[in-house]
Amino acid sequence: MTKKKILITGGAGFIGSHVVRLFVNKYPDYEIYNLDFLTYAGNLENLTDIESKPNYHFIKADIVDAKSIFQLFDEYKFDSVIHLAAESHVDRSITNPTEFVMTNVVGTVNLLNAFKNLWKDNFDGHLFYHVSTDEVYGSLHDGGFFLETTPYDPQSPYSASKASSDHFVRAYHNTYKMPVVISNCSNNYGPNQFPEKLIPLFINNIRNNKPLPVYGKGENVRDWLFVVDHARAIDDVFHKGKISETYNIGGFNEWKNLDLIKVICKVMDKKLGRANGESEKLITYVTDRAGHDLRYAIDANKIMHELGWKPSLQFEEGIEKTIDWYLANQKWLDDVTSGDYAKYYDKMYSKR
Ligand code: NAD
Ligand code: DAU
Repeated sequence: MTKKKILITGGAGFIGSHVVRLFVNKYPDYEIYNLDFLTYAGNLENLTDIESKPNYHFIKADIVDAKSIFQLFDEYKFDSVIHLAAESHVDRSITNPTEFVMTNVVGTVNLLNAFKNLWKDNFDGHLFYHVSTDEVYGSLHDGGFFLETTPYDPQSPYSASKASSDHFVRAYHNTYKMPVVISNCSNNYGPNQFPEKLIPLFINNIRNNKPLPVYGKGENVRDWLFVVDHARAIDDVFHKGKISETYNIGGFNEWKNLDLIKVICKVMDKKLGRANGESEKLITYVTDRAGHDLRYAIDANKIMHELGWKPSLQFEEGIEKTIDWYLANQKWLDDVTSGDYAKYYDKMYSKR
């Protein structure tokens, strides 16, 4: 029997690398193809522990390049897709929205077209799984939670591009009967996150005694989930999710930014042998993010009740694990901030 070929896009990024690791280790009977363009956010150093496994394959390609995406689907005949590749940072979307339209919208449509073209005569046994975000639902102001039925109301160029890609995925199901599934997750944290996002940026700045730039008054609220728990949820949705359904994924773990930052400062003081309260002195209030969403909060009851998923870690344990990882992997932090990891790619793949 030929092994199922699963294409995971964006597998060199933060969440993608945890998904690739889980699938490569848990499913030796799948051939896992990690397709990534290795932008500033993609880093093959995230996957050194599994890169020599026989069921792991890396393909460097740009999802915006329709021709090469079509050629790759033609060559490899991927059975199913788990699509994570994206531009993912809200602040970057504010300075360069077009790049987000290209990668997140055009890139997704290119993948949908290539998948449709390959399997249109018989979609049985195939799946296009689109990984999305809770930001498509907009900003909560008066309590409540985002449900799968909450109307879309994206507020930033990033969330508008993700919402658009979600709509295209649903439209391909409705129009062409493509088997699709979508999940919308809250903020992830954990090892391997690029230090432009709040938690790794602040850990890195505390380590280097640099100011901690808190946007506005630090009153915005996010619902944080450990990245490995998101990867486990993606596994459940991929294998047990119902075609054409949406699953919200979240940790029921809301934190006001300032409270979260104070926890990080406290744990870091302890780990670095600093006096209690020393890292908090680095907090610096800066101009707010334009159009800053006030609160995100996911109701994750559907995936918990229908697919039996639940988070495995309490936040206190997860944040400690996360800080320990960054402190034990300072070279990783130095490499991604200096751009040195590009050399790693050249060394590993230029002669292949
Ligand atoms: P990331 O920025 O860490 O990684 C994105 C990956 O996509 C990188 O490896 C990058 O090289 C790759 N990529 C970018 N443009 C590409 C292109 N044109 N062609 C091929 N590959 C390309 O992102 P992340 O935080 O791991 O997020 C992964 C997915 O999960 C995204 O779709 C994001 O919208 C979604 N998501 C993220 C979070 C979060 O908290 N980080 C929460 C919910 C959903
Ligand atoms: O909710 C899911 C989303 O979470 C994902 O779809 C995005 O890809 C991911 O980047 C994340 O978006 P956020 O904008 O919520 O994450 P970020 O880490 O950029 O910011 C978290 C909060 O911290 C937000 O309220 C802005 C604030 N912040 C962020 C940075 C980088 C600061 O106060 N200072 C900072 O320097």
